[in-house]
Amino acid sequence: TTPSLGLYGLGTMGSALALNILDNGYALHVSNRSDDKVPEFEAEAGPLAERLTGHASLVEMAKAMTAPRAVILMVPAGKPVDDCIADLEPVLEKGDVIVDAGNADFNDTMRRTKQVEAKGLAFLGMGVSGGEDGARHGPSIMVGGTNDVWEGLREVIEAIAAKFEGDPCAARLGPDGAGHFVKTVHNGIEYADMELIAETYGLMRYGLNRPVSEVGKTFKRWNEGRLQSYLVEITGEVLAVEDAGGAPFVDTILDRAGQKGTGRWTVIEAVRMGQSASVIEAAVGARAWSAEKPVREGGADILGWVREDVDLSEEDLEAALLAGRIVAYAQGFRILEASSNEFGWDLDFSRIAEIWRAGCIIRSRLLDDISQAFRSEPPQGQLVFAPAFAEMLKETVPALRRVVSAATLAAHPVPGLTAALGFLDTFAQARGTTELIQAQRDFFGRHGFDLIGGDTGQHGPWWD
Ligand code: 6PG
Repeated sequence: TTPSLGLYGLGTMGSALALNILDNGYALHVSNRSDDKVPEFEAEAGPLAERLTGHASLVEMAKAMTAPRAVILMVPAGKPVDDCIADLEPVLEKGDVIVDAGNADFNDTMRRTKQVEAKGLAFLGMGVSGGEDGARHGPSIMVGGTNDVWEGLREVIEAIAAKFEGDPCAARLGPDGAGHFVKTVHNGIEYADMELIAETYGLMRYGLNRPVSEVGKTFKRWNEGRLQSYLVEITGEVLAVEDAGGAPFVDTILDRAGQKGTGRWTVIEAVRMGQSASVIEAAVGARAWSAEKPVREGGADILGWVREDVDLSEEDLEAALLAGRIVAYAQGFRILEASSNEFGWDLDFSRIAEIWRAGCIIRSRLLDDISQAFRSEPPQGQLVFAPAFAEMLKETVPALRRVVSAATLAAHPVPGLTAALGFLDTFAQARGTTELIQAQRDFFGRHGFDLIGGDTGQHGPWWD
């Protein structure tokens, strides 16, 4: 039996998710930090309000619900979640579950799971992707928690999730922090894809001097082909919008990107595990640098080199974007693999790709292929070595090279595309150049190195 459901936090995402739950025939209790939101939401729910009960506070809501309860928190990540848990713990009883549906740091989710379980309650860390529209009509849902708790809520979660050819885009991916970690990496890939798209837009706009509306049409066309994806689709739509004077609306927006943390967390975790998600890192860095608007204005004045025209075909740009996107996904999955090994999560990469096929922000045509590639165990576990992807890369990387070269020669910053190429070029060489780094380490610090023949812990003749 489904527990009684309550949702706290009627912001954009919370309201949309609440309407989705009601729409699927479930009764729902709601409350919000400021209680004037509750009547507002009741009005918004229209006929769905008959299954809705509003409450003045989280505690009052929890008290009014019948056990077993599932209290879904849709509040900003961080302290607000801890505050809610502190309020709920004295009220809830064994068998009740607290569901954190925000973009939590998975470390917090692991800590909270322990804390809540110690009180005899259960916790579910639930990553929800798809923005407002997804939350309303079907998001992709990445769950971490015990199997029992998942089974208790599975019916509701699958009902509200997006469907890909009938298959719900929701799954329990592992214990405690696994769901929020997968959501974090989803967002890391989202950052990377957005950066690659923005770089490609920049080359068409400032390198090929195309009018914005034309660039928008190109993205719309690309969305009909192998770049088909939600992010390419909305790029086409955004670029088609004009302001009251008929000028591109995008030109009225300050070029200073925000970020709430998930992209950065992906990079932090990657580096902490001795890994690198360089395209995601480039995307986080590009947003950070963009936020330093006055410094860039100073740089334009002091360094002042101008972006020159580039001679590139649309086909090359399309292929380069595809190659970059493949690397962004591949790096995301590498981080998932590293975390799965570290925490013993046993993540199912194929299933993760499947539940990203609809509902979420990074949904794209590629994900079905990615899912199949992981099902048939790619060589060395690498997505980029799976036959279908190796083939795609062999075909598109020459274009990526031309795009990165042309952009670089003409002073267009393309850190994401460049990082993607650097990754592929590194993994396409059996012998690299780090033998020199090993020699240097030994030279200055007797750090030792291994010989090609197999002898380990050797030192160079410079120590003789
Ligand atoms: C999603 C989005 C969503 C949100 C991100 C954006 O999957 O629905 O990722 O979670 O838009 O938090 O993050 P930034 O504000 O850091 O860009």
